[in-house]
This record gives sequence, structure tokens and C-alpha cells, in this order.
Amino acid sequence: MLELQARAKINLTLEVLGRRPDGYHEILSVMQAVDLHDTLRLELAEGLSLTSNWPHLETPDNLVLKAARLLKQAAKVDLGAQMHLVKAIPLAAGLGGGSSDAAAALQGLNELWGRPLPGEELVTVASAVGSDVPFFLVDGTALAEGRGERVTKLPPLRRRWVVLVTPSVEVQNKTAYLYSLLSPQDYSAGVATREVVEALRSGESPDPSLFVNVFQPIALDRFPDVRRWHDSMFRLGAERVWLAGSGPTLFTLCSDEGSSRYLARLLEAEGATVLVTRTV
Ligand code: C5P
Repeated sequence: MLELQARAKINLTLEVLGRRPDGYHEILSVMQAVDLHDTLRLELAEGLSLTSNWPHLETPDNLVLKAARLLKQAAKVDLGAQMHLVKAIPLAAGLGGGSSDAAAALQGLNELWGRPLPGEELVTVASAVGSDVPFFLVDGTALAEGRGERVTKLPPLRRRWVVLVTPSVEVQNKTAYLYSLLSPQDYSAGVATREVVEALRSGESPDPSLFVNVFQPIALDRFPDVRRWHDSMFRLGAERVWLAGSGPTLFTLCSDEGSSRYLARLLEAEGATVLVTRTV
């Protein structure tokens, strides 16, 4: 049996440069993995099956099963697996949980099946599963380009504590919907992302005033619960607040554990769904 941790991510920057002919958007993003993780257990079995502590995730369109099917096809193996997913990352929250689970499935199954695919072919399968999946094969801090699937590892960000607040927002096809709300005035040239990359590459701590997310003004405008918790986080002492991915999770960075736990307690007392984690 194999057991893997599938980490969540936040985006330090998420800029959209424009719309592509294939309907996707060209992005530049500095992605950062955090400690918060799901757990995926794999065992050799006949056929492919998935169980979870959240039974409504046991559906054929789960990205874990999609990843398993695509890997099986690409690697031309006639093996199967029984997979069990223990969720800890909030669902459809902007934290990349589903993509990370899929990346863990690819890595784990490739191992379980005797490494039929070399690393670079695993990346190709990952990008077919979803734009964010290749990042989770790289982990840590990385630059994502293209539709997000072209990933370059960066020197790690100095460890920070992260307070995550997940407002309740229910939207079908959330990521596609948020992208569909973008208009050309939301596009940028990637300057902030490049500055963050440059700082990391020269061994400096990037200035948090460079951190930016194209979806943040849209999410604040459209979703009252995002606006509410964004304002609460500031009122309770957060210096800066950002959106994770296409949201609705909001996060702030703290340099020490005490201040992150204190802020989390204040937010919980007001009824927020809060998690405290660390960058890795
Ligand atoms: O790649 P993934 O399946 O995660 O993308 C979900 C949807 O988000 C896409 O169908 C597309 O509508 C939108 N998207 C986009 N540009 C990206 C990534 C995703 O428009 N770079």
C-alpha cells in the first residue's frame, strides 16, 4: 500500500495576460504549496475504484479517477488500483485540492505500477487532467505559465504562517465561471509576477505589496460572503488579504504562529471557516 500527501496551494500572484484562441487564458502565477493536505491511499487491485471520507466525491468525474484513467492509457498498463481519499482541503475553494489529489494519484500509481512513465511524460498526462495539476508534481514555490500547466520551480519563499478563510460561495463550474467574467481591462502584463520571481531568484523576500490576484476585485464584487470575510480579516488585524486562485478562499500571511492562531480564533468567534497552515 502507498500513502501520499496531496498539498493545497495559494497563489502569491495570479495575472491573466489575455485570452487564447483555444478558449483558455494565458496566465502568469507564482504558486506556493502549503502544509494543509489531503491523504491518498493506493493499493493494487483489479480495475480502478475510489472511496472517500466524503462519499459524494466517489464519482467517475473525480479528478483522481480521471488521472488514473489517463495514466493507464498513456502507460499502456493493464493494472488497477483501489484508492481511498481522505479530504482535509476545502472543496472548490481555490486551494487546488482536486488538482493536487490528481497529481498525487499520478505519482502514486506510476510508482505502484512499476514506473511505466518517465517524469516528463507524467507532466503531459497531468496537464491533460487540468491546468493546475502539473504544479503539484513540482510542489514548493513555482512559476506557472501558459494556461498554468508550464511550471518552473523557484527558490522557496521564506516560511510563513497562513490563515485561510473559506467563505461559502456555491457556483457551478466555479473556475470556468470566474474566467468568463474577465474582460480585457482585467488583463495585465505580468510585471508583478516577474518582480516576485526576480526577488525569489536573487534570494530576497518578495515585497507582499507585489502580490496580486486578477479574480480578487471580481470575487469581492460578486460574492457578498467574500466581501464580508475580507473586511472582517482587516478589521481583526490582518495587514493584507488575498484571494486563493479563483476563490472563494481568502488568506493572509503571518510571520509567526502566535499571531496566526490569534487571528484565526477571532475569526472563528465570528463564525468563519478558518484553517491555519504554513508555506512549504
Ligand atoms: O484546466 P481546467 O480544467 O482546470 O480549467 C477549467 C476551466 O477554467 C477551463 O475550462 C477554462 O474555462 C478556464 N481556464 C481558463 N484559463 C486557464 C485555466 C482555466 O480560461 N488558464
